[in-house]
Amino acid sequence: MKYRAMEKLGLKPSAFGLGCMRFNGAASGDSIIDEQKAISLIRRAIDGGVNYLDTAYTYLDKTSEIVVGKALLDGYRDKVTIATKMPLGAVKDRASMEAVLAEQLGKLRTDHIDFYLMHGLDKKEWESFKAIGAPEFFEDMKREGKIRFKCFSFHGPYEDFEYILNDYDWDMVQIQYNFMDIDNQAGTKGLKLAGEKGIPVVIMEGLLGGRLSKAPDNVQALYDEFPVKRSAVEWAFRWLCNHPEVSVVLSGCNEAVQIDENLKIFDSVEPGIMDDEELKLMENVRKAYLDRTKIGCTGCKYCMPCPNDVNIPGIFSSWNNISLYDLDPANDWGLKRIRENNSGADKCIACGACEAACPQGLQIIDMLQQAWEEMN
Ligand SMILES: NC(=O)c1ccc[n+]([C@@H]2O[C@H](COP(=O)([O-])OP(=O)(O)OC[C@H]3O[C@@H](n4cnc5c(N)ncnc54)[C@H](OP(=O)(O)O)[C@@H]3O)[C@@H](O)[C@H]2O)c1
Repeated sequence: MKYRAMEKLGLKPSAFGLGCMRFNGAASGDSIIDEQKAISLIRRAIDGGVNYLDTAYTYLDKTSEIVVGKALLDGYRDKVTIATKMPLGAVKDRASMEAVLAEQLGKLRTDHIDFYLMHGLDKKEWESFKAIGAPEFFEDMKREGKIRFKCFSFHGPYEDFEYILNDYDWDMVQIQYNFMDIDNQAGTKGLKLAGEKGIPVVIMEGLLGGRLSKAPDNVQALYDEFPVKRSAVEWAFRWLCNHPEVSVVLSGCNEAVQIDENLKIFDSVEPGIMDDEELKLMENVRKAYLDRTKIGCTGCKYCMPCPNDVNIPGIFSSWNNISLYDLDPANDWGLKRIRENNSGADKCIACGACEAACPQGLQIIDMLQQAWEEMN
């Protein structure tokens, strides 16, 4: 395992940080399915050298922190730093911030959280959280030793990112970044800005929720033509770790084999490791994807539940998969299930609740109709 310096914080986190949002195929809205399996995956990662875990109050229907807490019994807590997040929708004043943090410490079975993040912060929320005293709360909790570092995670536009980053003395920031998202959200510009300010950056969605792990034919052809053979997952992580500003790359793993592959990959990736030919390959891979991708939905389920029961991430996932792999829509099991459950785009009433919640800023209403027409 390679460890990268967070100089500002005097820490050396593992380059591979375990994301605890998707165990057993579940995503942020679903509860944990197999607790013992999740605990064994977490411990397997730690035994392999991972010392950074990322969870949140809301993940897995509020069960992720509980599972992380159980996994960290038997001496594992001392081997890791924990990042978890304040649920912005659940706090409205100092008392509720204190109550939520106390609940999180209890679920995680610890007396302190290392990285405490404002979850999915945007500029408007930042202003309202300043007004209710969130910065003072962070300072006080730091002084009391309940949190070590003040951080935020981010999915909004670059302009918001720049504003929030420059407006407070942050210890760390977590952004979505991968070779497809260089101009999306904080993007490369945001990564560089944090780097210039000496603020450590943790990466989420490095595989775009797993989509970059399965190369479609035209992308695989590019990988195959390259003289050095690597998996799509290795190329994606290698590209991320090539950036000196990146401290930790989170990866959510559902199987032991994924943990093992990632442990191996993160044994060798370092800043500046890619030569010009490799960088050119990744630029061509990006173009090849852009030729095929229908919609940049990562399946985070922030748009759910839909008030009219439309299975928004399911429809987009099928639309993307069908396009990426040239599948016959009649054979797509996800689409079949959506039809059986009567949760298709024909039920959409264009209320817009999903668009307001989408971290990717997708125009969900129009895209749902387009997807539904194409797949039917
Ligand atoms: N703060 C926020 O707002 C926010 C938002 C999103 C994520 N996050 C955090 O960031 C973490 C990472 O995000 P993410 O879960 O979206 O990560 P990701 O790394 O982009 O995607 C995770 C998926 O990658 C696939 N995968 C991982 N290793 C693999 C391997 N070796 N071979 C093949 N497939 C592999 C798995 O897909 P399969 O399901 O296909 O097996 C897994 O579900 C999350 O767990 C969460 O902790 C935070």
